[in-house]
Amino acid sequence: MKNILVTGGAGFIGSAFVRRMVAKYPQYTLIVFDKLTYAGNLDNLLPVKDAPNYRFERGDIADRAAVQRVCEQYAIDAIVNFAAESHVDRSILEPDAFINTDIVGVYVLLDVARQLGIPRLHHVSTDEVYGSIEEGFFRETDPLQPNSPYAASKAGGEMMVRAYHVTYGLHTTVTRGSNTFGPYQYPEKIAPFFITEAIDDRPLPLYGDGMQVRDWLYVDDHAEAIEVVLLHGTPGEVYNVGGEHELHNIEVTRFILETLGKPESLIRYVADRPGHDRRYALTNDKIRRELGWEPQHTFEDAMRSTIAWYRENEWWWRKIKTGEYLEFYKMQYAERLANAQQHGGA
Ligand code: NAD
Ligand code: TYD
Repeated sequence: MKNILVTGGAGFIGSAFVRRMVAKYPQYTLIVFDKLTYAGNLDNLLPVKDAPNYRFERGDIADRAAVQRVCEQYAIDAIVNFAAESHVDRSILEPDAFINTDIVGVYVLLDVARQLGIPRLHHVSTDEVYGSIEEGFFRETDPLQPNSPYAASKAGGEMMVRAYHVTYGLHTTVTRGSNTFGPYQYPEKIAPFFITEAIDDRPLPLYGDGMQVRDWLYVDDHAEAIEVVLLHGTPGEVYNVGGEHELHNIEVTRFILETLGKPESLIRYVADRPGHDRRYALTNDKIRRELGWEPQHTFEDAMRSTIAWYRENEWWWRKIKTGEYLEFYKMQYAERLANAQQHGGA
């Protein structure tokens, strides 16, 4: 492996993977291919912008001609696909782009890989494809029961990956990561959204009763798991990647407020997300046993350093929270907040 195409590498997890791999493997060239949607951000790649083994190409994974051109131009011999529409709330408001990128885009990558004989393709998926689980932990062999348009589109992409492995013998692997947090995460997901809103003493809209459970994974651990699976994973296999740290949303919110020294009165209970999954939980047994990977960071340390990063890097997020971001915010939260209940209030 020499020239790795990282699709969606200007996003949150993709850029963490690129920063890691560029520094660690000077013998590989990392070519980021990214459409630069609202979530793509070249600031995420500033730390590697002058590295000799890094390149950037703008393009859409659903555009076959563009994907083929970049694969030929750089003699790509591995693809790692992070590109996706990734926010559940946006998928509820407007599912179109999710079908195009998370299903059609994945198919295009697979088909170009097949036609050009690219020997390796890793696809980054999510634990959300399993749906919600009340008790116990999802294993890789469990059925997929996605509940949101986002989760369903990710499941569709994964099924194409499976078919290309079984039908054409493409050397594919898949990881299903849990809720990831860390620096450079677009401030629409709960952690960076609540951190940056709380810094400005603004209300935090907690959906429903705030008792939904997510498993929390630090972004560097997620990037490391993808590296390990890319280098050592078995063709055709799927690997869960969990942080092994379950928390209720209210607990995550309280941790953020306490760390920032902000009052709990900022919490607002707002109308729930439609079809809201109650709990995500998965076991790391397989990746731990077969590849020796396990998370290296504790939630507390990693979340504290993440909060510190947002405090120290306002230059990064303040310019995001303008324009289109504010339009989405209004659509998503204005009415809900107007009818909200304050934490601890009557
Ligand atoms: P993100 O939204 O921060 O980044 C997505 C990136 O993909 C952006 O740079 C965007 O410009 C790019 N992109 C979108 N559509 C594209 C297209 N058609 N062609 C090329 N590029 C396109 O997402 P993220 O949080 O970094 O997630 C990365 C991957 O990991 C996704 O596949 C997501 O489903 C998966 N995942 C995310 C989490 C999480 O908690 N964030 C957890 C598990 C799995
Ligand atoms: P999110 O960060 O959108 O990730 P996902 O939906 O992929 O798990 O949401 C994490 C949890 O936080 C989820 O249960 C929804 C909840 N949430 C809120 O309560 N308020 C919010 O404003 C957001 C964005 C999320």
